[in-house]
Amino acid sequence: MNEKHSVAEIQQAIKQGAITPEYKADTQRIVQALNRLRSTEIMSYLQYMQHQYMAVSLLSPGLKAEFEAHATQELDHANRLAERIQQLGGVPIYDPKEIAAKAANVGVAPEQGATLTEMVAEDLMLERQQIEVYTALIREVGDQDPVTRHVLIGILAETEKHASELADYLKRTADTLH
Ligand SMILES: [Fe+2]
Ligand SMILES: [Fe+2]
Repeated sequence: MNEKHSVAEIQQAIKQGAITPEYKADTQRIVQALNRLRSTEIMSYLQYMQHQYMAVSLLSPGLKAEFEAHATQELDHANRLAERIQQLGGVPIYDPKEIAAKAANVGVAPEQGATLTEMVAEDLMLERQQIEVYTALIREVGDQDPVTRHVLIGILAETEKHASELADYLKRTADTLH
């Protein structure tokens, strides 16, 4: 160890990890927001898996696979947020009741419609709800925390893709939606 840094400086660095004085966001506030979004991703995962289990109709053989593919991506979103939460010195929420409450706070709770079309509509509404929350948070973060912003934008792009796919499906089958 050279003498360039005092022991106190090094201890401080160990405590703060990647957070330097140039980090301009409030880490606690960001961690809370990321935990809220992660809760919606877990709900989204549960909803897509439920739809995957229930999508047995021979009318839409591709839909079951599509639900499962989305579910896998939702879990990946939750994992990416958890990783960022940990880097910021936070703890990903793991109490299911708390996860459900946080998701409900931003209007997200798993639903299971009676028909495939209803399920796709529920998924579309959930994705759109997430798009709103992600977009608002990205605007709030601004340039205060570039890495969190990068993580959020990556997930938002995939969420918008999901919403477009679901909307396209419903445009083709709109006549069956009551
Ligand atoms: Fe997602
Ligand atoms: Fe999604």
